[in-house]
Amino acid sequence: MCGIVGYVGREKVKDLLVDGLSRLEYRGYDSAGFALYPKDDTANFVVRRCVGVVAELRKATQDVGQTETQGIAHTRWATHGVPNEVNAHPHLTGLTVLVHNGIIENHAHLRSAFQEQGVAFHSQTDTEVFARLIESNREWHVQKEKEASGKDFLDLPTERKRDIVLEALRQSMRQVDGHYAILFMVKGLPGYLFGVQSGAPMVVGRTPHGSLIASDLHALIRHTREVSFVPHGAIVEASAEGYRYIDPASGKASTPKFETINWSAQEVEKEGYEHFMLKEIHQQPLVVADTLSGRLPQEAGDPFIWDHPKAHEVLWKNCKKVYLVACGTAYYAAMVGKYFLERWARIPVEVDLASEFRYRSPILEPGTVLGVISQSGETADTLAALRLANEMGVTTFSVCNVPGSTIMRESSFQYPTKAGPEIGVASTKAFTAQLVVLAALAQDIARLRGFKADPAPFARLPHDMEQILARAQSYMDLGARLADKKTILFVGRGAMYPLALEGALKLKEISYRHAEGYAAGELKHGPIALVDERLATIVLGPSDDLLPKTLSNLEEIRSRKGYIIGIGEESNKNFKALCDEYIGMPATDWALAPLLYVLPLQLISYGLAKHLECDIDKPRNLAKSVTVE
Ligand code: F6R
Repeated sequence: MCGIVGYVGREKVKDLLVDGLSRLEYRGYDSAGFALYPKDDTANFVVRRCVGVVAELRKATQDVGQTETQGIAHTRWATHGVPNEVNAHPHLTGLTVLVHNGIIENHAHLRSAFQEQGVAFHSQTDTEVFARLIESNREWHVQKEKEASGKDFLDLPTERKRDIVLEALRQSMRQVDGHYAILFMVKGLPGYLFGVQSGAPMVVGRTPHGSLIASDLHALIRHTREVSFVPHGAIVEASAEGYRYIDPASGKASTPKFETINWSAQEVEKEGYEHFMLKEIHQQPLVVADTLSGRLPQEAGDPFIWDHPKAHEVLWKNCKKVYLVACGTAYYAAMVGKYFLERWARIPVEVDLASEFRYRSPILEPGTVLGVISQSGETADTLAALRLANEMGVTTFSVCNVPGSTIMRESSFQYPTKAGPEIGVASTKAFTAQLVVLAALAQDIARLRGFKADPAPFARLPHDMEQILARAQSYMDLGARLADKKTILFVGRGAMYPLALEGALKLKEISYRHAEGYAAGELKHGPIALVDERLATIVLGPSDDLLPKTLSNLEEIRSRKGYIIGIGEESNKNFKALCDEYIGMPATDWALAPLLYVLPLQLISYGLAKHLECDIDKPRNLAKSVTVE
């Protein structure tokens, strides 16, 4: 969704901002812009905005920003108002220029109140309303000041101007409803940026040359790994010398605590791959190894190593029921997690979509543990579900990829994935990392509850994944051959059912082709009506006790002339003989099969999308991190 970057310091700011925006492109956007504080304070803000990609903004603004060292920038994913230049951010109102991520729910009411006073708006955005509100509160304080001291805003000492702006901001925050992050500058007050984190993430970075603020880490890690996540509800004030966090209720200021993030700048580069998605697919063996690193038990019967071993033990020994809540791909990981937890640890598990869970008056009985799964740690519905569970008093945990993200911070227990930055909009490596954490967790809970646990197969995973990825090109070629199919059906049983859903989602997202995931046993209950020679079915069939049943479903498709691609064990000649195309996989434990079988699925989608010349890393209409409902 929208991305924000800001900088104040000694470096030239324009390129730094535009580069920061390009690191946020993966979040999804339709327009971009920036505002620079002019070197000469008598001049106006330099504001440039355009519809389309950041590269366009860079090209169109080569002539500006050679001297300025302070500015704010934005990528907009339209919510209120169509994507056009007028609605693009920053919005300049009076002395204030502002960028915004999120939604101001009472913007229509505020807008009409201003309109009744004769205020005209240029855009259809809630952002301009927020900027106007800050301006009008600032003007009110300036008027009071003028009555007292006779001085106008621009004549006041810097500290007084700063305090007036902060007062106006605190007042405005009390008047708006919604969740948002904003960043703004005020003319006449050079050297300062002001922001608020009120439900949309913000992180600040300390560099030797100045202060950076952004919506997420990706925009910062080229410059610094010393970061601080702005606490929910806080105002942030940045100057070249550093930051202050201000509590809007009391007005009290504090100095942020910084932490070192161990993501490297290299991780946000494609490193020779054509797309981030392809790089991320190939990173999966490493991601699995990193996520498990230092956690695997020495021997069967030993515990997995978690960050909070004692509390972990108490939690799971007393747990009566688990709820797993997530969105999209993370939801499918949760569905696979249900198979792990129920089969190994014998705990009943309910899996829910966060957008449904939060509005359904869920029943969370004592002894329930609720886990949320999220790559970004900022997905609005998932976060709301977590907050609801926290309010209802059940213990919560997160399986999350972004260190310091809101979901990680607000959950009682953290089981982190170590996938590193995932930039391709379609999730790949975060999914496998989620699966491996859920599998490890389920094994460890099984051990704690006295059931058999055997972590031995985990050690082989990266090796088996490497083996599969060595044939990446052949899976991509197979994907390209699906271009003439009208629909692609993915089917599987057991843990392969959620994988079928994930395969279909991946294909839809990046190739825009119609795909459906189904439990193989459900075919006869409807979808079989779709089958003809223009339908391809991808059958996920590891050699487990469910395979004979899956193969009968396959026969039903075959007898109706459906095109069949089987994914099963290399040695399974019977399965292979029933298929038009066959992908052979190494033999594996039932539970680890999803981690292997997902690889060809990702590559098939990638191959098809590439053949169709789709924008693979930034599919149309999608945002990487869905921070609005
Ligand atoms: C699909 C995809 C999305 C996300 C979903 C949840 O490829 O990436 O479906 O899985 O938006 O996002 P997170 O995991 O960040 O909560």
